[in-house]
Amino acid sequence: MDRDHSVGSKSFTAVAINTAAKAGEWIKMKQGTHASLSQKSSSHDLVTEVDKGSETMIRNLIKTYFPDHAFLGEEGVAPGAEASARAIREMQDEEYLWIVDPIDGTTNFVHGFPYFVVSIALARRGEVIVGVIYDPNRDEMFVAEKGKGAYLRGKPIRVSSEERLGDALIATGFPSDTVSTLPVNLRGLQAVAPIARNVRSAGSAALHLAYVAAGRLSGFWELGLNSWDLAAGALLVQEAGGRVTDTRGEPYSLSVRHVLATNGLVHGELLQTLADAEATGF
Ligand code: IPD
Ligand code: CA
Repeated sequence: MDRDHSVGSKSFTAVAINTAAKAGEWIKMKQGTHASLSQKSSSHDLVTEVDKGSETMIRNLIKTYFPDHAFLGEEGVAPGAEASARAIREMQDEEYLWIVDPIDGTTNFVHGFPYFVVSIALARRGEVIVGVIYDPNRDEMFVAEKGKGAYLRGKPIRVSSEERLGDALIATGFPSDTVSTLPVNLRGLQAVAPIARNVRSAGSAALHLAYVAAGRLSGFWELGLNSWDLAAGALLVQEAGGRVTDTRGEPYSLSVRHVLATNGLVHGELLQTLADAEATGF
């Protein structure tokens, strides 16, 4: 381990894994018991005291090891697309920036639908170098390190090998901005569903990305996502041999909000299908 990747005896990745495991166990234990439920930007955008508690726990653990690193967590940012976009714009040049979604899939968490994860990424001057996504319900820890591959339970994972949308299982999501973003994503859904083998929507963008990395899905697209929904999952897909761009085909960066992540092989067909349906969000 080079000096850049460790402080004392703790590597960045080890801290990310331990932190995601602790937060994940805690949120799983809290499932079905949350006391407060608040709306953020709308009734489609929820937060509980468990989201906030998970973020505090993650922040404290990371700050214990890396007190000088910057921290961007969903619950520390005002609701809405504008504030989220501004937050990452202002912080993306930090030498070390932890980007955290303390529960991705809060609506699922609230309803007891067991698809929610903790997502933790570390970016160095704008480039994601560690990405960890932990699904506490299945005890699955997805781990990626820049240039070192993507792993699940210590074994390397690879994207799927389907070459055509007709053979591909694709996922999307339903954005909480129901006024401008959701209608465009629905146009995409209308175009993709008849062509792909089928479409899934499990309610967690980070989990969808982890599943693309693991070859369980061949692709995922969604409009209007935030840096904390995407950072860890984007690295996982790339390190598993896949491709991540925006919905116009521009390379992934921390400021991307309209994402397309695939096994690489169906990328062009999916890009074209969204473009033809005027469903790229641009
Ligand atoms: C949400 C989930 C969901 C996606 C929404 C996101 P949150 O994140 O990733 O799958 O459709 O657009 O906001 O609010 O549960 O962290
Ligand atoms: Ca969240």
